[in-house]
Amino acid sequence: MTVREPFQLEGLRKAGLAVAKALHAMRESLETGITTLELDEVGKRVLDGYGAVSAPKKDYGFPGTTCISVNEEVAHGIPGKRRIEPGDLVNFDVSACLDGYYADTGFTVLFRSEDRELRNLCACSSRALNRALKVAKAGAKINLVGKAIEDEARKEGFSTIRNLSGHGTGSRLHEPPDGLVNYYDPRIGGVFRKGMVLAIETFVSTGASQADEMDDGWTLTTPDGSFVAQYEHTVVVTEGEPLIMTRL
Ligand code: CO
Ligand code: CO
Repeated sequence: MTVREPFQLEGLRKAGLAVAKALHAMRESLETGITTLELDEVGKRVLDGYGAVSAPKKDYGFPGTTCISVNEEVAHGIPGKRRIEPGDLVNFDVSACLDGYYADTGFTVLFRSEDRELRNLCACSSRALNRALKVAKAGAKINLVGKAIEDEARKEGFSTIRNLSGHGTGSRLHEPPDGLVNYYDPRIGGVFRKGMVLAIETFVSTGASQADEMDDGWTLTTPDGSFVAQYEHTVVVTEGEPLIMTRL
């Protein structure tokens, strides 16, 4: 969607706050042995409290409230019996609809581990998101987002997942514009416009450049077991830095 009126920005801020609070509560609840279903229930309670509903469930029939992806899982992990252990790389992706407004946020936690490569991976992907947010200005080319993410990943010797990307959002979970990929593609020609609502997300990987869908029809994993760190914010484009809807 494109924000044209203050009430629309207010609606998005409320949806953004709901998903940011749910994500925060899930991060705070991480402990050894907790199941991903229990973590999902933590997120659901927060969303329920705001009157927000799970976006992937509402728009696509996803069998859970939030997506929780562990280790070789990259995205769209289904909450279930899997127990979190020290050393796990855990991604939370929370998106919801509140009063017709959608917001989407993601964060990756390296749980109780000092593994240097995985620490670097998370730090790199988080920096890549910050760089990508800075280039999303009215009038700038959309393909600068992919360039920023890929440049940051390559600097650290990491790859990016090429078949997963950010997206427009706001009035549905996924909507135009396209082209918010994780690599530089000179053929992507569009430009950002003031008021555009975007979910910008990074998929920085220790090796793989593609994620494959599993037999459950949802979970995306790396073919070689390499690890991915994803970070995501929903933002509104301005002439300067974008307004971040999903930061606490
Ligand atoms: Co998301
Ligand atoms: Co998203």
